Amino acid sequence: MESRIPEEIVEEVRFRADMVEIVSGYVNLQRKGKNYLGLCPFHTEKTASFTVNQEKQMFHCFGCHVGGNVISFLMRKENWTFPETVRYLADRYGVLLPQEELSRSQQQEQKSRKRWTQILDWAAMFFSENLLSHPEGAAARAYLEGRGVSEKMIHDFRLGYAPNRWDTLLEALRERGVEPEELAEAGLVIEHSPKKYYDRFRHRVIFSILDSRKQPVAFGGRVLDDSTPKYLNSPEGKFFSKGRHLYGMNQAHQGIREKGFALLVEGYLDVIALQQAGWINAVASLGTALTKEQAKLINKYTQRVALCYDSDAAGIQAALRAGEILYQTGLRVDVVSLRDAKDPDEIIRAQGEKAFQEALDQAKTYVEFKFHTMMAERPPQTIPEKAVLVTRLAPDILAVKSPVEREGYERFLSFELGLTLEAVQREILSQTREASKLSRKREYSNKTKDISVNNRDTINKQEDQALAPVTVTVPQGVYGAEWILLRLLEEDLSRLPRLEAELGSGFWRVPIHEKIFLALRNAGSRDFLSYDDEEMLNVWSHILTREIDITQADKIFMDCVRTIHAADREDRVEDLQVEMAQREKSGDFAGAVALLKEIGERLKRDEK
Ligand code: CTP
Ligand code: MN
Repeated sequence: MESRIPEEIVEEVRFRADMVEIVSGYVNLQRKGKNYLGLCPFHTEKTASFTVNQEKQMFHCFGCHVGGNVISFLMRKENWTFPETVRYLADRYGVLLPQEELSRSQQQEQKSRKRWTQILDWAAMFFSENLLSHPEGAAARAYLEGRGVSEKMIHDFRLGYAPNRWDTLLEALRERGVEPEELAEAGLVIEHSPKKYYDRFRHRVIFSILDSRKQPVAFGGRVLDDSTPKYLNSPEGKFFSKGRHLYGMNQAHQGIREKGFALLVEGYLDVIALQQAGWINAVASLGTALTKEQAKLINKYTQRVALCYDSDAAGIQAALRAGEILYQTGLRVDVVSLRDAKDPDEIIRAQGEKAFQEALDQAKTYVEFKFHTMMAERPPQTIPEKAVLVTRLAPDILAVKSPVEREGYERFLSFELGLTLEAVQREILSQTREASKLSRKREYSNKTKDISVNNRDTINKQEDQALAPVTVTVPQGVYGAEWILLRLLEEDLSRLPRLEAELGSGFWRVPIHEKIFLALRNAGSRDFLSYDDEEMLNVWSHILTREIDITQADKIFMDCVRTIHAADREDRVEDLQVEMAQREKSGDFAGAVALLKEIGERLKRDEK
C-alpha cells in the first residue's frame, strides 16, 4: 500500500522542480515573451500551441486544452500515479521524503508484491528468450510470422514462447532462486500432487499482460494450432485481477489521447494487429466480459469508445453488454461491424488497413446498433411490439445529454418504425420517472432563456479531450468576466472580501469556475489543485497562461463585476417577459400590463 505523502513535501517538490526543465525533456521549447512554446506532446500538431509559463509554473495547450503543473504533466506523460510522480521529482530535485512508516503487514505486503513482480518479470524474460533465440522457439516464431506480427510488436508486447516440456520454467527460475511454491502462487506452475509441480504454459505463444511500467502482471498462452483450449491464462491472484486490466493499455493510453477515442476489441491478436497497423489506441479486455473498472480505466483517457468485437453471434451479444457498461460509465459508444471478416486482425490481414478504416468510418452509434440487433432478432410486427421496442431503447436515449442528439434518435426511431415523432417521444417520456421529466423540462427552458453563446474561445471544439462534453451556455462576456476574476484572485487573494461584497459568492454561472473558486477560497492559497480532477487542471492552467494586463487590475476587476451585474439584470427582465406571456395567455391581462410596466422601468434604469 502507498502511504500518503505529506502536503509540505508536495509543496517543496513543486517549489524546487522547474517546469521548463522537466518539459524540455519531452518538448523542444522556444522562448516567447514570458512564455515558452513548443509542439504539444499530447496531441498531434504542426504549429506550436503548447505553452509553458515559467512564472506560474503551469503549462497549457491552446490546441487540445490540456493543462496543469509539473506534477500533472508527468502524471499524464508517463502515466504515473501521483505518489510515483512526487517520488520521482523528490529524487531528482533532492527533496528528502520522510521515512515511510509502514505497519508490519504493509511491509510484508510490499515485499511480497515486489517479489511477485520480479518473478513475473523473470518469467517474461525466459519466455521471450525462448521465442527469440532458442531452436525450440522456431515453431512459435514461424507461427507469429505467419500471422504477420512484426519484430517490433514481439518486442513491445513482450511476446514469448513456453517450450513443449513440463518443467522448463520451473527449472529456469529455480536457478534464480525461485521456489516452486512461489511460482505456484504466481500462477505459473500447477501443484498436481503435494509438492509436485509442472509448468502451466507448455508449447504456447505467450502474451504478457503488462502494466503501465511494462511489467507483466499475468500471461496468456495460445496454442500453435487448432487444438483446445485455444488460450490458457494466468489465474486471478492476490495481485492480479482480470477485470482491472486492459490488454495493450500500457502503450495505448497515449494513442487514445492522440486519436481522441479508444478502440476496444476482443482479442490479444486484434490489439497487436491494430497497433501494428497504426491504430495505437487499441485495447482488449482479458477474455472476460468487460467490467465497470475497465470502462472507468478507458474513461481516464477519453470520452469516446469505438467497439469492434468479433462479428459472430457471441461477439454481437458481448458488444451489447460491453456497450451498456461503457454507456453507463458516461462514455460515448460507437459500434463497428465487420462484414466478411471475423475480427479486426482478420480484416486487416485479408482486406488491408483501408478496409478496416472504412468499417470504422461506418460505425453506428450504440443506440442504432442496439436497435438493429433487436430488429434482426425479432422484427416487430404489430404496434404494441413496436412500442415495446421503443420502451427498451428509452433508457439509452434518455441517458443522452444533448437534446439535439436525443431528438436525432427519436427521429431515427420514428422513421425506422413508421411511427410519428410525437408518438415515439411520448413513449420514451412515459418511461422516465416524474423527477427526470421535470429536470428535462427545466433544462429545455434554461436553454431557451440563455443567451446561449457556445464558448468557442474557451471550450475545446475537438471531441477528444476531457473538456469536450462541457457546453457552457452563458453569455461570452460573463464567461470572460468569471475567469478573469479568478485570475485576479490568484494574483492577489486579498481581493476576495471585495469580490464577495460586490457579488456575493453564488453568482458563478460556469460550474467549473465555481468549483475552482470554492477550492481556492477554502484552501486560502493557490495550492488547491486536485490532481485527479482533469477538468480543473485544464481550465485553471488556461486561466493562468493567458495574458492580462495586471497593471490595470482594479479597473478590470470592476469591469468584470459590472458585466456580471448587467447579465443578471438582463436575466431578470427575461424572466419577467416569460411570466408576462404566461399571464397574457391565461387571460390575466391586468397582471400582464403591470409586468410590462415593470419591465419598462427596469430597462430604463439599466440604460443609466
Ligand atoms: N480467450 C481466452 N480463452 C479462450 C478463448 C479466448 O481467454 N479459450 C480470450 C483471449 O483473450 C482472446 C480473446 O478471448 O484473445 C478473444 O478470443 P478469440 O477471438 O477466440 O481469439 P483471438 O485473440 O482472435 O485469437 P485468434 O485470432 O488466434 O483466433
Ligand atoms: Mn482472431
